[in-house]
Amino acid sequence: MTAPLLDIHLTDDDLTTALRTDARTGLSADPKSLPPKWFYDARGSELFERITELPEYYPTRTERALLARVVGEIAAAAHAQVLVELGSGSAAKTRLLLDALTAEGSLKTYVPQDVSASALRGAADEIAAEYPNLSVHGVVSDFTDTLHNLPRGGRRMIAFLGGTLGNLVPAERAAFLAGINEVLEPGELLLLGTGLVIDPAILVPAYDDAAGVTAEFNRNVLHVLNNRLDADFDPEKFDHVAVWDAENEWIEMRLRATEAMTVTVAGLNLTVDFAAGEEMRTEISAKFRPESLAVELGEAGFTPTHTWIDPDDRFALTLAERR
Ligand code: AVJ
Repeated sequence: MTAPLLDIHLTDDDLTTALRTDARTGLSADPKSLPPKWFYDARGSELFERITELPEYYPTRTERALLARVVGEIAAAAHAQVLVELGSGSAAKTRLLLDALTAEGSLKTYVPQDVSASALRGAADEIAAEYPNLSVHGVVSDFTDTLHNLPRGGRRMIAFLGGTLGNLVPAERAAFLAGINEVLEPGELLLLGTGLVIDPAILVPAYDDAAGVTAEFNRNVLHVLNNRLDADFDPEKFDHVAVWDAENEWIEMRLRATEAMTVTVAGLNLTVDFAAGEEMRTEISAKFRPESLAVELGEAGFTPTHTWIDPDDRFALTLAERR
């Protein structure tokens, strides 16, 4: 086995710089909001792993089961030489894809991408040991603005799984899909996993579980601000709120101030007032309809070639070709 390459296009300082901008903008806005990417420090990533095991949180296990069922068809259709996995994280679904793509015979290179260098190094080492014939080339970057740093060469399939596309607001989503399109050559592929619009009675509890793990995950963004920007949020003074926005067809997570307070963000020289009951948006998780997703992909320069949906119509995998 060859030791995996790791390209670092994002340092810890870069992350702090980006968080400073996002926090200053979001905490000064009316209404306040914070982008969901800041949930995922080590504690937040662990909480997310726990979420994926909750009885209410169906997306991860639904996508996984669907992928297990159709991955052979994906491999046959894709005939990919390079698998790029955006936000590869813990990489449990990765093995399903790698097994099928190596069995199919075309795959030469695996390119996991993540913001966390430590998570990526661990995952890259494990994969390299398990798949000795594969060259592994990790990329530490922020997938929303460093797609151009992905290695080229060979017929590539970019996998963006987990429903994470839904965490981008529509304008960001369009820019992101167009950005992927731009780095691909005609005929190269995008494999997208998206949650579908379903009954809110099932959807809402997935984001508001009985054990309160999602609430703790939501409050974790305040811990991140405390740690990285020297803020003095008292996370216990914020309630977790999850609402289904039927018009936009997204779940919105918010943190609601239980009392009036003033928070200091020392690292930004900023004080922030919260009114009692004030709500701050921390995440949207958009759900999709297969027809409108196909339209969005078309507008971004893709031709969707295959769509696979689980038996309960909760999750879709879409294979799309760059035109
Ligand atoms: C990271 C996209 C898989 O939006 O469902 C889980 C994050 N937020 N519970 C999602 C999340 C609340 C999640 N994904």
